[in-house]
Amino acid sequence: MASVIQSQKTALITGAASGVGFAVAKLCRNKGMHLALLDIDESNLTKTKLVLSDLDPNLKTEAYVLDVADRSAWKDIADNISRSFPEIDLVVLNAGRGYKPQIQESRGRMNPWLDTEYWSKTFDTNVFGPLNGLDVILPLILDSKSKTPKSIVVTGSKQGITNPPGGNNPAYNASKAAIKSLTEHLAHDLRSDPITSHISVHLLIPGWTWTGFMGNVGPNKEQDMKKPTGAWYPSQVAEELSAGLEKGLFYIICPDGETDRALDQARMKWGSEDVYEERPALSRWEDGWKGRAEEAIQADANARRS
Ligand SMILES: NC(=O)c1ccc[n+]([C@@H]2O[C@H](COP(=O)([O-])OP(=O)(O)OC[C@H]3O[C@@H](n4cnc5c(N)ncnc54)[C@H](O)[C@@H]3O)[C@@H](O)[C@H]2O)c1
Repeated sequence: MASVIQSQKTALITGAASGVGFAVAKLCRNKGMHLALLDIDESNLTKTKLVLSDLDPNLKTEAYVLDVADRSAWKDIADNISRSFPEIDLVVLNAGRGYKPQIQESRGRMNPWLDTEYWSKTFDTNVFGPLNGLDVILPLILDSKSKTPKSIVVTGSKQGITNPPGGNNPAYNASKAAIKSLTEHLAHDLRSDPITSHISVHLLIPGWTWTGFMGNVGPNKEQDMKKPTGAWYPSQVAEELSAGLEKGLFYIICPDGETDRALDQARMKWGSEDVYEERPALSRWEDGWKGRAEEAIQADANARRS
C-alpha cells in the first residue's frame, strides 16, 4: 500500500496542539494535506490552527476542542468532521498523558496502589481516548465512497513494552501495554475483513522526545527549544512515522539520541524472555538479576551493531 501522506489527502490528529501530534500535523501540511486537529488545550489548539493555516491557506484546516476521554464529545463533533472532511485518509490517535498518584501513604510517598482515580484518569485518556476515536471515525471512513488506502496510527510507548517500574509509571505503562495489544488486534481484524482491508493500522512507538510531556508545551518552533542532547525533536518522530508508513511497518519504533535500535531490541528481547525463562517479573530491575541483565543486554546490543 502506498503511504497515505500525500497532497490533497486528509489527516485527523488527536493531541495535535503540541509535541508529536503537532509535528505530525506540520509534516502532513508540508506534504499538502488537509487537517482536522483535535486537542483538549483550546489555547494551544488555536495557535496550532493559525500556524498550520499560514503554511498553506488554500488547504483546509479545522480545529476541534475535545477531551478524547469524553465519548459524548466525540459523538457531538462527528457530524461537523464528516461535513468538513468527506474523506479521512490518515487517523492519528495520539493524545495521551501521564498522571501522578495523589494519595500519600503514611511514609509520605505517593502510592499508585492506593489511588484508583490515578488509574482511571490514565486509562480514560490513554486507552478509552483512542477507543472513543475509533468508535466515531471508523464508521466515517467506512461510509466514504472511495476505497482508496487509509491508515490508522495509534501512539504507544516503549514503556508499554519494557515496563520500567517506579514513580508514576505503573498506570502509564499498563495503559500503553493495552494500546499495543488493542492496536495489534485492530490491525489483524481490519486486514482480515475484505470490507476493511484497505485500512492499514500502525503502532507509533516514540523514544525519548522533547515535548509537553517534558515541559515543552505548545506548537513551538524547534529551533527555540532547549532540548537535552539525548532526546529527539518531535519532527524526527514525525519523519520516522512517515518513513514507517512508506515501508508499511506495523511497529514504528523510534530510536533517540541515547538509545539506538540495537539497544531497544536487546531490552525488548530481555523483557519478553522473562516470561518463558521463568525469571522474576521485571528482572532487569530486580536485585540479584540487574547485573546479569545489563551484561546480557549490552552484549546482545553490541552483537546487533556489529
Ligand atoms: N514525549 C515522549 O518522550 C513520548 C514517548 C513515548 C510516547 N509518547 C506518547 O506520545 C503521545 C503524544 O505526547 P507528546 O509527547 O507529544 O506530549 P505533549 O504533551 O506535547 O502532547 C500531547 C497533546 O495531547 C493533548 N491531550 C492530552 N490529554 C488529552 C485529552 N484528554 N484529550 C485531548 N487532547 C489531550 C495535550 O493537550 C497535548 O497537546 C502521547 O500518547 C504520549 O504518551 C511520548
